[in-house]
Amino acid sequence: METGLLHLHSVLRWVILLLLLVTLFSAIAKKTTIRSSSLWLLISAHIMFVIGIYQLIAGRFGIMNGRGTDIPLMKDTFYRFFWIEHPLMMFVAIVLITIARGKAKVLNYKATAWLLFIALILILAAVPWPFREVVGEGRNWFPGM
Ligand code: HEM
Repeated sequence: METGLLHLHSVLRWVILLLLLVTLFSAIAKKTTIRSSSLWLLISAHIMFVIGIYQLIAGRFGIMNGRGTDIPLMKDTFYRFFWIEHPLMMFVAIVLITIARGKAKVLNYKATAWLLFIALILILAAVPWPFREVVGEGRNWFPGM
């Protein structure tokens, strides 16, 4: 189950990025479709949050299975990334996506676009992209690739 959840967490990143871009550009173009696309974005982001919390607690690098206590957490760049930087930035991004959904519902295009723009920057900065050294070996663009 753990590998399946990690794969789902990995695939959902593309779903979220796609929905986020679609909703962002629709808000800039003042399209009423932001009502529905922002809802799908909200649902995917909240599912991601639940899976993320599970990984953070019980995943292969989670708090229950994690590192020893010999090195201070903030000096361990790998665990600092996965236990603090990634979850915290993603949490803020998901809160912004949630507020943006409220704004999209009443067709407040400007607020929706700004909130989603900031969420996009946060997500792009916090994803463990394969080219980032801190994320360790074996991170993929897509599970199995
Ligand atoms: C929009 C939100 C998020 C995105 C786009 C995202 C994206 C990703 C990606 C792409 C990976 C690497 C998966 C792999 O190597 O196969 C990952 C790993 C991880 N994520 Fe997230 N994530 C998000 C939210 C969260 C949240 C909210 C948490 C925790 C509360 C979290 C906790 C983790 C953990 C602990 C890992 C490492 C899992 C492992 O390697 O075993 N993520 N995330």
